[in-house]
Amino acid sequence: MDKEVKSIGIFDSGLGGLTVAKEIIKQLPKESITYIGDTARVPYGSKSPETVVRFTTECVKFLETKNIKMGVIACNTASASGLDIIQSNFKFPVIGVVNPGALAAVKATKSKKVGVIGTEGTIKSKAYEKAIKSLDNEIEVYSKACPLFVPLVEEGWIDTTVTRMVIEEYLSDLIKNNIDTLVLGCTHYPIIKNTIKSVIGNDIKLVDSAEETALTVKDIVFQMGMLNTNENKPQNNFYVTDAPEKFVEVGEKFL
Ligand code: DGL
Repeated sequence: MDKEVKSIGIFDSGLGGLTVAKEIIKQLPKESITYIGDTARVPYGSKSPETVVRFTTECVKFLETKNIKMGVIACNTASASGLDIIQSNFKFPVIGVVNPGALAAVKATKSKKVGVIGTEGTIKSKAYEKAIKSLDNEIEVYSKACPLFVPLVEEGWIDTTVTRMVIEEYLSDLIKNNIDTLVLGCTHYPIIKNTIKSVIGNDIKLVDSAEETALTVKDIVFQMGMLNTNENKPQNNFYVTDAPEKFVEVGEKFL
């Protein structure tokens, strides 16, 4: 008899987590995905850690009702605000994107000087800094909150004059520290990756946590013996807490 088919639950504050969903779908094409974006309460980046943890837990509880085998907190702000508290509410594994992103940065840097950009909440939490230093204490981490990047991406201003000016304004001081690696510590930033690259040059490696997170998901699902062996086509379901039409319209940019 077929084993019960459970999906991989993915949470984000909105639609940015689709960058992580895309990578998981790419690396685990037989798995089904259940995604929830908290579009009613986005952005999380400017909210307190307590509120972010409460909202995130509520959304993962919703995913729990959809028969998931593990949860992925694709939102960097939520991953950085109290992943351990969120995890303690669930019996299935729940992972965030900070540790995989930190690992990718440690693998990438040669000069041991790493930049991290993210929302105000992510940068304030120092979660990336702690995670990178716990892997290699010699690495120097330079951080900068870039709150204007999220609305620019949602507006579809991927490579406009304004976007380039904002990138320059935020990143010019950061790159003066001779970093050779920059962590894109926010779901939205991979969308403007090429614009960032063209402003700061090709010498700085850009790291986004999506790929490393998908590898971690793969490992966990494999270790749990829960890889989907059913030959039926996977079913991907997407839920939002408000404005589904906007999710469909902007979501296309992310997938
Ligand atoms: N998903 C958030 C993150 O990765 C960005 C959007 C928000 O502020 O909620 O940090």
